[in-house]
Amino acid sequence: MELISRTIRKQRATNIVANREEFRRIFDDMCKSAGSFTPTPTWLLCKHPSEIESTDLSEILDRAGSDEVFQQEFADLDQRMNGWVGDRNAELISEKSALPLVESYGSFLQRRDSLGLWRTNVKESTNAEALKVADLGSLMDLTFLYTYAFDPARKITTILEVGGGYGRLAEAAFNIFGKSIRYVLVDSVPVSLYYSKKYLESVCPEIRVGSYYDGDNFDMSEFDCYVIPAWYFDELNKEKYDVCINIESFQEMGQQHIDHYLQLFDRVSVDRAVIYLDNARDYIFRGDWNFPNHWQKLFCSNTPRSWSPDHPAEVFVKSTGDFSAQNAILDDIHHFVQSAPEPAVTLGSQIEALAGKRVRTVLGGGRSQLKKVLEWRSGKGN
Ligand SMILES: C[S@@+](CC[C@H](N)C(=O)[O-])C[C@H]1O[C@@H](n2cnc3c(N)ncnc32)[C@H](O)[C@@H]1O
Repeated sequence: MELISRTIRKQRATNIVANREEFRRIFDDMCKSAGSFTPTPTWLLCKHPSEIESTDLSEILDRAGSDEVFQQEFADLDQRMNGWVGDRNAELISEKSALPLVESYGSFLQRRDSLGLWRTNVKESTNAEALKVADLGSLMDLTFLYTYAFDPARKITTILEVGGGYGRLAEAAFNIFGKSIRYVLVDSVPVSLYYSKKYLESVCPEIRVGSYYDGDNFDMSEFDCYVIPAWYFDELNKEKYDVCINIESFQEMGQQHIDHYLQLFDRVSVDRAVIYLDNARDYIFRGDWNFPNHWQKLFCSNTPRSWSPDHPAEVFVKSTGDFSAQNAILDDIHHFVQSAPEPAVTLGSQIEALAGKRVRTVLGGGRSQLKKVLEWRSGKGN
């Protein structure tokens, strides 16, 4: 993982229009071959589960494969952008409504900015207004990945991302780490399999991007980046991975998918591999996170990307031994921080926090005297 540049976007991203026949081929193959990898109806129809009435899979597949849904949802890349990154992350950082998130990422990333990514891409950039909020997430992801996974003894770092969307993080990673990485994108949603290949070859022209659906061999000596459906990965994969990633993706899958991918990460990764996950635990998927006990959790915390209360980024290192008890403590701390009361900010709330609601009411009249006492206690008074 060599730091070859600090600019995460080098080419202007333009919209891409899908070829209906190529898209249909991927969709038809999914219907024929995906089996248990078939994505949840949410990803087939691009709707929240509460908006999907039918539970009949063949009915859902018929609808998802129709020309009408294609035109509405899949016909060009921009149409799906909000689905991949979420509404608020799809906003340009120059938009007024994006300001709170930009400030939040800024206060988090500027403090150390160990790779200089905030400074180069935002603070001192003349092109910052072209970035989306999602790109600030990429600055954070790459800072974490480099910090935890950089190994000076390794020439090429192999990265496996499940559910990489249109290639947001892969693009940024190739721009920062160049050919010192090899990147495999595994997905089971036709629209992601289709556009990630097209997008990455358009914005990273200097890297070799292969795809199962273009008839390319899954041979990472021929490609820097390869896009493959989940249902062929196990059979065709020959690589061992140094880094495994899933961001904003397991949160929308079923239990069997998540169990499968966690086991897959374990099986195809090297010893001491780094596993980086960032998912809401209080959104669509509410089941169990069955991490192998020999994954040692190094980090578990909400970040500026967290759009729900329980939405940690997590870093694990694949190790030997049983880390379940230590990992549970990091989970407990994460949950404690979520449920800890907000710091008391007003005079009334300080009294309530110190002495309870009743005392606050009773003492309501003696406000001026109490104010002096509290100011003195907090070191502001003389
Ligand atoms: C919300 S997008 C996140 C994209 C990307 N990780 C990012 O943060 O920009 C969710 C991703 O998970 C993928 N996905 C959904 N269900 C999946 C499944 N069962 N197996 C593999 N990938 C899946 C989608 O195709 C998409 O790429």
